[in-house]
Amino acid sequence: MKVAVIGANGQLGSDITSIFKEQNHQVIELNHDVINIVDLDLCKKVLSEVQPDLVINTAAYHNVDKCEIETVKAFEGNALGARNLAILSNEQGFKLYHISTDYVFSGSKQAPYLEDDAVCPVNVYGNTKASGEFFVRSIAANSLVIRVSAIYGKNPCRAKGGNNFVNLMLKLGNEKPEVRVVAHEFVSPTPTMDIARQLAHIASSNLTGICHATSESQCSWYEFAQEIFRIAGIKTPLNIAQPGEFAVNTPRPFYSVLENNLLKKNGLNIMRDWREGLKDYLSQQL
Ligand SMILES: NC(=O)c1ccc[n+]([C@@H]2O[C@H](COP(=O)([O-])OP(=O)(O)OC[C@H]3O[C@@H](n4cnc5c(N)ncnc54)[C@H](OP(=O)(O)O)[C@@H]3O)[C@@H](O)[C@H]2O)c1
Repeated sequence: MKVAVIGANGQLGSDITSIFKEQNHQVIELNHDVINIVDLDLCKKVLSEVQPDLVINTAAYHNVDKCEIETVKAFEGNALGARNLAILSNEQGFKLYHISTDYVFSGSKQAPYLEDDAVCPVNVYGNTKASGEFFVRSIAANSLVIRVSAIYGKNPCRAKGGNNFVNLMLKLGNEKPEVRVVAHEFVSPTPTMDIARQLAHIASSNLTGICHATSESQCSWYEFAQEIFRIAGIKTPLNIAQPGEFAVNTPRPFYSVLENNLLKKNGLNIMRDWREGLKDYLSQQL
């Protein structure tokens, strides 16, 4: 299959690129210097030259704090960009995989979210991503929205700069006398490599609609840090930070656990327990 990866040098895009290549797909890497998903004419030109069977869109405007200030840019990147690709999916006949996020939910459910739970974002980023999902689902006949959450990969997120959570904990654990992490926010930490493998697995099916693709089972950020320290053999004291201890500018969901319900129903779920993914990731890093 000819697969165009938009955001191929990003955290998730780089692992998608390597896994799809490994599985003998022809991968066309489309980075921001050759395509801007906000520009419909440019997308039309680039994608008509490439003629992909499948486009995987990982591009997003997703610095959550900046989205609150640069709301137009956020809407352009996350909503109108998705709409452009959805329009071209119909016009040019490619399948569209569009990456979305747990931030479309408020987090108040306090039980794993299913794909058809009502979205209720608590910030601008979540609103723009929810809008992008609606555009894709209402326009592109052959599309799949894939929600991911708490992701980490060997090439850290470009939009956020610097470290992912795992590498940050390794750094702090080696440099600080004490590390403090919150225990009241829950996630399913997911390596981008696992998402890439899951997408390649889905690509052999005709799955459309909206699916969740996150690691199995959940933990608090504190428990995640504990496991990182345990595997890495870090002995620095790790303590629970109180709610409100770290200044947060933008509201975020406190509960971000997603159930891979659609994948399971279709016999396609290959996501593993978050601890196994972490062990593999750290075996490459340490
Ligand atoms: N990171 C997280 O914690 C997280 C959590 C849940 C969901 N997600 C979702 O996962 C996806 C991938 O995230 P990631 O961590 O891999 O992000 P990333 O490392 O920042 O990669 C995003 C890629 O998209 C490119 N891009 C940004 N805007 C673009 C545009 N308008 N047109 C074309 N390319 C553009 C970026 O290029 P430049 O850097 O050169 O601009 C970069 O290559 C996003 O859809 C995000 O919403 C992320």
